[in-house]
Amino acid sequence: MRVLTGIQPSGDLHIGNYFGSVKQMVEAQKDSETFAFIANYHAMTSLSEGDKLSKLTMQAATDFLALGIDPNKSTFWVQSDVKEVLELYWTLSSFTPMGLLERAHSYKDKTARGFATNHSLLSYPVLMAADILLFSPDIVPVGKDQIQHVEIARDIAIKFNNQYGDILKLPEFKVEEHVATVPGTDGQKMSKSYGNTVNIFGEEKQQLKTIKKIVTQNVAMEDPKEYETCNVYNIAKLFLDDDALEELQNRYKRGGEGHGHFKLYLADVMWEYFGDFREKREYYQKNQNEVREILNLGANKARESALPMIEKIRSVTGIRY
Ligand code: ADP
Ligand code: TRP
Repeated sequence: MRVLTGIQPSGDLHIGNYFGSVKQMVEAQKDSETFAFIANYHAMTSLSEGDKLSKLTMQAATDFLALGIDPNKSTFWVQSDVKEVLELYWTLSSFTPMGLLERAHSYKDKTARGFATNHSLLSYPVLMAADILLFSPDIVPVGKDQIQHVEIARDIAIKFNNQYGDILKLPEFKVEEHVATVPGTDGQKMSKSYGNTVNIFGEEKQQLKTIKKIVTQNVAMEDPKEYETCNVYNIAKLFLDDDALEELQNRYKRGGEGHGHFKLYLADVMWEYFGDFREKREYYQKNQNEVREILNLGANKARESALPMIEKIRSVTGIRY
């Protein structure tokens, strides 16, 4: 089974990203053929500072390698290093009705919120369709907000195939329904856009400061406390095995400790959990050339795997003459 996903390079990763997405990708490497790329062209739709985009791209690559994307198991590259995707993007544009793009939620939301419209915002799903269809994946794991984009890719593929035969493979999206939404420090969904994140990689002191900000109920120290509704507990449980979880529940039920104690415990558990990842990240940060090398090899692998498809498309569309 081939699984493909793209990740926008958008800055510091938080634990919602990790448990909601990165961990699944890393686990998929065990039994699937995994394709993962950093969607830097897509990031251009919202970022127009060149220095920043190139730094964020390297940061994303470094972080994903640190968190367990294994270049020996996955094909891992930067979108802009495989230019064939832009060729397919153009080809697919002729099979993309305007109405399909105008109806896309993400486009409608952005325009409704007053973003200046430009062509890249509108054609974003066509590039995403090219990302997908170039590699014929069976499954595209996405967050809920991206489902419609995978459906658009299917619609475009159907139109193309109607004209040229059964060439493009129709992708299926997969949303990890069983993965709970990770709450942020205020109890809402953790998200960069809400400013309620607990980042994976940060200074220890800063991380503790963030964890201390987690909103909790006001209960006297000696009284028993509810854990099911506690934001600290609901974050901590992501890191704990059954025994440790039971022990933490007992501490809540017993009373005698305040939420501050549980926050300190969470900070320790989290620091420990990401310890090996942090070391790997420091290594890659010091060896950015190695990261570049990995990305180059990944791009070569990705291109090799895309070539038969792009050749076939050039041929049926008459671009190869
Ligand atoms: P953000 O909301 O911080 O901008 P993104 O939209 O970039 O995060 O999300 C990247 C990936 O991380 C997506 O696959 C998304 O489903 C997952 N993700 C983000 N926040 C959470 C969360 N709070 N709980 C579970 N998964 C999340
Ligand atoms: N649009 C996706 C996001 O913002 C990123 C992305 C780009 C992607 N191309 C893709 C995801 C192809 C899956 C497949 O999260």
